Amino acid sequence: MLNRRQFLAGSTAATLIPATGMAAPAPVRLEPAPARVQLAPPSYPITDVWAYNGSVPGQTLRFKQGARLHAELVNGLEQPTTIHWHGLRLPNNMDGVPDFSQPVVQPGGTFDYEFDLPDAGTYWYHPHAGALEQVARGLSGPLIIEEATPPDVDAEHVLVIDDWRLTEEAKIHESFESGRDLSHAGRLGNYVTANGSGDLQLPARAGARMRLRLINTANARIFSIELQGLEGWIVALDGMPLEKPEKAETVSLATAQRADLIVDVTAAPGEEAFLISRERDEGFALTTFKVSDQAAQARRGAPAPLPPNILPEIQLDGAKTARMLMEGGAMRWLDSAAYKGRQMGGRELAQEGQFWALNGMVGMPDDPLVSASLGETVRVALGNDTRFPHAIHLHGHHFRDVQPDGALGPLRDTILLQPGRAREIAFVADNPGKWMFHCHMLSHQISGMMTWIEVS
Ligand code: C2O
Ligand code: CU
Repeated sequence: MLNRRQFLAGSTAATLIPATGMAAPAPVRLEPAPARVQLAPPSYPITDVWAYNGSVPGQTLRFKQGARLHAELVNGLEQPTTIHWHGLRLPNNMDGVPDFSQPVVQPGGTFDYEFDLPDAGTYWYHPHAGALEQVARGLSGPLIIEEATPPDVDAEHVLVIDDWRLTEEAKIHESFESGRDLSHAGRLGNYVTANGSGDLQLPARAGARMRLRLINTANARIFSIELQGLEGWIVALDGMPLEKPEKAETVSLATAQRADLIVDVTAAPGEEAFLISRERDEGFALTTFKVSDQAAQARRGAPAPLPPNILPEIQLDGAKTARMLMEGGAMRWLDSAAYKGRQMGGRELAQEGQFWALNGMVGMPDDPLVSASLGETVRVALGNDTRFPHAIHLHGHHFRDVQPDGALGPLRDTILLQPGRAREIAFVADNPGKWMFHCHMLSHQISGMMTWIEVS
């Protein structure tokens, strides 16, 4: 780990509030391009990154629920890109999957993204072309969609948590397609940032109530986050409100997942409060809150649930069923699997940089995992027969996990499956098109773990 104890002045991402209610607001221009930022502590050199409009993370896009997002992608990279709006229920041709839902955007090229925002919540955007490298170099940003009536809080912070693999000179380590990462836990870094800072410090007032919007944009790292000097509730996961706020003890945040917290500052004036990242016995501050004077004297009760987003009801009776069996990776190497229309042995696949299979197939198959008719409920039995955790993401829909007794869990767009575990999810296929369904550990995605569903 690089030295984390030193100060780093936060480069706060600019907030952009598009005008709503006007005829045609100018599109937000998003230009991914090379940039230089002080990522590591000040005793280290500046880091060459790829960034949207020069900032890491990319600027916070903020809209009101029901508004229309209009963004123009201008590709300032020397390689093709796209933008995927992670977690949004949007029209298929706006989903950003290259040569699948849209043509890839060549260097110097542009693409207009324009769609309505039906759901409030915490989302994010990132490239879906060359994603392993492009995200690792710094391309991602928050997308916040505000409720018509936001909850009553004294402050709100968007916290983009990222994990970087840097060299001792604070350069982005260019080991993107290392066979070890592809076949193990993915590209884990050695430097963790919140909003681009290894030592993010924010002001807070004792007794104040804050909304924290946590977004994990790391390539592969799973965070386990604890509160210190703060007490609160999880009020939404992956953008979608929980029916009942849940006490936040430890917040598990797999890659691509989000959690909205409402927390009260319990630390006294002059003290510090923290969000702590725990890994085994170690912990470090993801964010430090410098607590000043008293905002409120009395503790408030649990917050009311956020207003729900309106999604169709899951009907388990008569649902269409499918399964997704995950196999491969280190210590459980594939014997053989189908790749590019041919059955291949594990060794041959490894030479192609392919290590994982879903239902015996490596990479995007010709046929969808499931074809659903519009409005149909789909149940997918997920099984993780590997030695690694996987964060499985479905595009264009939110699903719930189905407990053995039939009870339904919270709405999510990314679910973490621990090694050896099986879980079942269900969703209403109400969004027509072809949607990717893949592991969001980006190293796993490109080395086998992707498939798709079709809704028509
Ligand atoms: Cu956030 Cu297919 O990705
Ligand atoms: Cu995976």
